[in-house]
Amino acid sequence: MKIVLFGPPGAGKGTQAVRLTERMAIPHISTGDMFRAAIQQGTPTGLEAKSYMDRGELVPDEVTTRIVAERIAKPDCQNGFILDGFPRTVAQAQALADIAEIDVVVNFVADDEALVRRLGGRRSCPTHGIYHIDWISGDKVHCPECGETLVKRADDEETTIRNRLTVYHAQTAPVVDYYQRKGVLKEVDGMLSVADTYKIVTELLGVAP
Ligand code: AP5
Repeated sequence: MKIVLFGPPGAGKGTQAVRLTERMAIPHISTGDMFRAAIQQGTPTGLEAKSYMDRGELVPDEVTTRIVAERIAKPDCQNGFILDGFPRTVAQAQALADIAEIDVVVNFVADDEALVRRLGGRRSCPTHGIYHIDWISGDKVHCPECGETLVKRADDEETTIRNRLTVYHAQTAPVVDYYQRKGVLKEVDGMLSVADTYKIVTELLGVAP
């Protein structure tokens, strides 16, 4: 199955993708993660992406579409994949249609102010994934499972979060209409708990939780 997880920053795309990729045994392709890895490795793509990401702007379509096309062409994507954070413009959606037929687009709908709170409290552990500080008892600085120092993303400062939301409404939200017209869009309430959201998403994908 070829799946797109869609929605505003902080709607829970990454959180659900991690669970679904384990359950469905198909790769999780996050353009944000790919850019962050490229930045860490200091590649030309990373250097170009960084200036946009730091401001909460979108990386140019041609760069983003190229890295996704290269990733989707790999053999592990033959039986499907879960795209997280792509496409984010109508031009990206059109470019994706040229290389893959998407079966379902899950659109997580959520309230902007709740998203600002979610992203402001997001922390991640390199081994154990994404947390929110409200879920962590203890010092909220170290991973509750392994003690590793938790990382706050550079673009999770409030000013940048608000710009990401503005960019989402202006440039990314129109992609909803594009997929609605194609008849593959499924809407999910992104304000539910992680467990309830997962249950609904697996039901609509037709897989056991
Ligand atoms: P990217 O990394 O894709 O970030 P994003 O879309 O802004 O999405 P997030 O990762 O912030 O949110 P999420 O929906 O995955 O939420 P999460 O599960 O982590 O992109 C970063 C940047 O890269 C972009 O700004 C852009 O510059 C560039 N980029 C990437 N793709 C691009 C593209 N296609 N084109 C151009 N540029 C691109 O959850 C967030 C928090 O909420 C966590 O703390 C989590 O624990 C908590 N949470 C999750 N679910 C729930 C729930 N149900 N209830 C309560 N809390 C929850």
